[in-house]
Amino acid sequence: MATEEQLRLSTIIKSCHDSLRMLTKQYGPEKAWQEHIKDGDRLREYAEAMHQLANIWEHNTTNQDLMARSRVKWTIEYCMAYFFSERIYLEKRLREQRLLESWEGYDCSQCQYLEQMPDKIKVLDVGSCFNPFGKSENFEVTAIDLCPATEDVLKGDFLKIQIENLLEPIMASETNEVISLPANYYECVVFSLLLEYIPSSDLRLQCCQKAYQLLKYEGILIIITPDSQHVGKNAAIMKNWRYTLGTMGFSRIRFEKLPHITCMVFRKASDPRIAQRWSELHKESYMELSIDIPQDNKTFDDD
Ligand SMILES: C[S@@+](CC[C@H](N)C(=O)[O-])C[C@H]1O[C@@H](n2cnc3c(N)ncnc32)[C@H](O)[C@@H]1O
Repeated sequence: MATEEQLRLSTIIKSCHDSLRMLTKQYGPEKAWQEHIKDGDRLREYAEAMHQLANIWEHNTTNQDLMARSRVKWTIEYCMAYFFSERIYLEKRLREQRLLESWEGYDCSQCQYLEQMPDKIKVLDVGSCFNPFGKSENFEVTAIDLCPATEDVLKGDFLKIQIENLLEPIMASETNEVISLPANYYECVVFSLLLEYIPSSDLRLQCCQKAYQLLKYEGILIIITPDSQHVGKNAAIMKNWRYTLGTMGFSRIRFEKLPHITCMVFRKASDPRIAQRWSELHKESYMELSIDIPQDNKTFDDD
């Protein structure tokens, strides 16, 4: 059962999300976002509360319910299996090669692969807040957030950040904010509880398109989304995410529903046509290019 302190922290987080949703209804997502990011006090209060709450969730080793929420553990374990212990990326590569060769008029001549596996995986953690992956010895993490809770997180609005051919991130000298990130550079991009913060489907789509540009071929986008419902409740929404991300060149390679979160892994296919063709073949009549979330249809009385 939640303690009084947990309830206090959750209320701060919820009121920040409610305020942004209310602004979005009033002004539309773009203007609402500009207003929202000006409110430094609210962003700082949120960052502090999120950090404290996550510490309670992540460091609890006695309560099974809290442990089940461990998105950090899940993400690290999947990355280790994908890149190192099980080398899942090679298995997926082979599968993609076989698929392409089985389609008439296609071959692997346009495929692009991870050249060499580095000792440490380059991870971009967007909306990192408190750099939960910073201590993982197998990761070299670039952690960014609108309002960092800890000093090892870079400040930056992912929606504004440019993507260029660079060797490392570029910071603005006066504000010490990230202004550009390198294209085709990261093996892994993490959106852990990020997309629900972003106020519209179009802006979430922009986030996913940016992740695609930032990743190397065969790199992975890990999306963790809060979901306390049973697995079927949001199935149509999740299938639509898969369809939409497929049109960008991402293949969904893992879907796991845990008690309070859904964890998904999207691979930047070695040839985007593989994922795009999947989407074409599996498109259902209700599907459209969008990244909707259940909260989009909530009224404020639902909470
Ligand atoms: C719910 S918290 C998740 C924190 C952490 N990733 C975790 O899983 O515990 C969402 C975070 O995303 C950040 N965020 C939201 N939109 C962002 C954007 N456009 N650019 C950078 N950070 C953003 C917020 O400031 C907030 O810290």
